[in-house]
Amino acid sequence: MPANPLQLKRIHHVEFYVGNARQAAYFYRHGFGFSQIAYRGLETGERQVTSYALGQGKARLLLTTPLSADHFAAEHIRRHGDGVRDIALQVADADAAFAEAVRRGAEPAEEPHDERDDRGGIRRAAIRTYGDTIHSLISYRDYDGPFLPGFAAAPIAADDAGILHIDHIVGNVELGKMNEWADFYHRVFGFERFISFDDKDISTEYSALMSIVMSDDSHAVKFPINEPAPGRKKSQIDEYLEAYGGPGVQHIALLTGDVIKTVSHLQRSGIEFLRVPDSYYQALPARVGKISEPLETIQTLSLLVDRDQEGYLLQIFSRPVQDRPTVFFEIIQRKGSRGFGKGNFKALFEAIELEQARRGNL
Ligand code: FE2
Repeated sequence: MPANPLQLKRIHHVEFYVGNARQAAYFYRHGFGFSQIAYRGLETGERQVTSYALGQGKARLLLTTPLSADHFAAEHIRRHGDGVRDIALQVADADAAFAEAVRRGAEPAEEPHDERDDRGGIRRAAIRTYGDTIHSLISYRDYDGPFLPGFAAAPIAADDAGILHIDHIVGNVELGKMNEWADFYHRVFGFERFISFDDKDISTEYSALMSIVMSDDSHAVKFPINEPAPGRKKSQIDEYLEAYGGPGVQHIALLTGDVIKTVSHLQRSGIEFLRVPDSYYQALPARVGKISEPLETIQTLSLLVDRDQEGYLLQIFSRPVQDRPTVFFEIIQRKGSRGFGKGNFKALFEAIELEQARRGNL
């Protein structure tokens, strides 16, 4: 199998359908340090939706809200609440990528077409992935505008929090479907299984989940897929599937070069993170050995640390960023480790279960 059959280049942006994009944009600007780049809406001649494109480092978020009840986004929001509609991918040639993806068994979502404005054009198509989530396939022709055709530059600078790019995007799927979706990314995108975790790795006294990380050959694009595993109580994946009304994006991990700076910034801005018990920090030095960050700061910020053969990583998980207990963010700094924090799973899931119990969902 060719290593990159769709000629995938990178994650172009992640599009959320939200109930109020103006307020969501404010949240990501002031909370997460994303700057506003571009806008489309009534003032730019767009009658169906309003969208705000935000960026920090190379990460791009697109926040879209429907302007009428009969737009598909309104149905998406009714079913799922605010959530990720599109993990949009830049490819060398959208027509070729779409044809190849469909030939490999992907379900079409949008046929290839032109999108153009006075700054030039792109080609765009889309295929379906888990749940109501899609992958747009975008290739550039001669477009040199601020974001995508149809958008007007609308810069609002934010106080940058040091986020560099998207590290990985995790999907939650139903029990028994993880392998199917891992196979989908293998068959359609040529991704390989990078790591997998079973219920022995990811289990607490009450619940468990399983996960397979699918990655392109350069490890630039990583899509872990989770499914619930049977446990004594409801797993966090089951809670998500109920609240989201089916499979969807569980979390987006944002890479930083300085997790202490980024997380201090986010916490000052009011972003809420999961906290692990103090016992986690008592056990930490013995588990991870010498690290260059001060342990006291790590504990104050409630950062998690894990080490493997290649190095270590520091990570932290936000609480869900909307009222339904669905999508959340991870902030991650890698110091040699290409892993996902396996050593933190137990402490982390116990922290999640405390919150689940408070919501009456455990
Ligand atoms: Fe993650």
